[in-house]
Amino acid sequence: MALTQSPFDQHNPRVTEPLLTEQQLCTPVLRRSFRRPYPTAVRGEGVYVWDADGKRYLDFSGSAAVNFIGHGVREISDAMAEQARQLEFVHTSQFTTPVAEEFAQELLDFAGQHFAGGAVYFTCGGSESVETALKLARQYQVEIGERNRHQILSRQQSYHGATLGALAVSGNRKRREIYLPMVREFEHIGMPYCYRCAFDCTDNCCNCGQRYAAELERAIQAAKGAAAGFIFEPMSGATLGAVAPPPGYLKAVADICRRHGVLLIADEVMTGMGRTGRNFAIEHWEIGPDILITAKGVSSGYAPLGAVIASKKVVDAIAAGSGAFLHGFTYNAHPVSAAAGRTVLRRIRSLNLVHAADSEAEGTAGSTLKKALESLRDLDVVGDIRGLGLLCGVEFVADKKTKAPFAPEKNFAGLVGQACLRRGLLVYPMQGCVDGIAGDHLLIAPPAVITAEQIAWAVEQIRAAVLECAVQAH
Ligand SMILES: Cc1ncc(COP(=O)(O)O)c(C=O)c1O
Repeated sequence: MALTQSPFDQHNPRVTEPLLTEQQLCTPVLRRSFRRPYPTAVRGEGVYVWDADGKRYLDFSGSAAVNFIGHGVREISDAMAEQARQLEFVHTSQFTTPVAEEFAQELLDFAGQHFAGGAVYFTCGGSESVETALKLARQYQVEIGERNRHQILSRQQSYHGATLGALAVSGNRKRREIYLPMVREFEHIGMPYCYRCAFDCTDNCCNCGQRYAAELERAIQAAKGAAAGFIFEPMSGATLGAVAPPPGYLKAVADICRRHGVLLIADEVMTGMGRTGRNFAIEHWEIGPDILITAKGVSSGYAPLGAVIASKKVVDAIAAGSGAFLHGFTYNAHPVSAAAGRTVLRRIRSLNLVHAADSEAEGTAGSTLKKALESLRDLDVVGDIRGLGLLCGVEFVADKKTKAPFAPEKNFAGLVGQACLRRGLLVYPMQGCVDGIAGDHLLIAPPAVITAEQIAWAVEQIRAAVLECAVQAH
């Protein structure tokens, strides 16, 4: 099967696919692309997924940085089935449930001391969680008498979700472009990206963190008292491909927000729940946001689930003020999803998977992955290898010396993704890291149960796929 574009890139019109049959294109499911066939997945176990033809794929991207505990874990499906048998659903305007209450407390504990006395709002995924956080920040400001504060500041080259509110604060050009006339926009500041640092640092970006952070202070001042919150991914997820911030940057950002009464909202939809080798990525930089958002790994994909973890300051303001959060989804705190999340978290703890993801600890899956990916640096088209824990990026360049990217029409990352797929390897190819359009990278985010042997095999497949595509692209 020949695929033509990133499985995650819905808007890329550069398609060179041979015409598909009517039968392949005509399906009752509105798929991401009308121009490529999709294998039919039927089974998963550990790091593997099988399609209907019996072909096995090693899931080196955790689908889209979702699966952390491995596929096909019976303990999770049993817990979900048991919850569904006992009580499938009640509406949160009428009831709470033991499973939601217990899981919320376990998540608060997992999020650490900074969130003691806080509360969790459960949703069905990342975008819903971001929407919830934006509204929570606005309501907090209203409750404390700051009615003029309604703007959420954010960053270019970021991604916070597909719904219109989440898209408004996102910076991913391709995913936003055609919807821009429909969204209300506030200021997007620059994003640190050390491989292509805007300040041309020659000291490994040891000192540019403060300069990037200063942009936020200028944006807050320009908002003239209307800034309610600042949303950011502690580590860039898909858009830049696992880019970690320079030293001092996030601490400076947190200080600026605090000084100006702007809520700090950390979007850990991708980086949360152990993926970077810490419970949450913010722990790497020792900052405490007012609101912490997670999804993906919170259920490892076993059920649609997201969580907005609000600090005590935010919760108390509403409790002591109007007394009601003016927001709600029908499936808020769905019992079956909460059962999945609670059992996933218990498994993360019992198998010590956060440690397994830690790339700074010896002998872990995280450190093995880092070493294995580093071995790709000798390839002419590999410009950068980066990341933390089990969230890594491999950036491709047409010219290693100048860091010039491939022409976007070549869709180099997409081609590598297809070549990997043919070899039975799932990766997450993306374009646009340089300027929203040009730039190619792979996001690598395997489940934490991956073995050293499986990592070695997967990296071998990437090497072979890159070599094959480099010959075509040059
Ligand atoms: C950082 C971040 N925020 C939000 C989202 C949106 O999450 P969802 O696709 O579950 O709506 C994503 C999805 O990739 C993400 O990476």
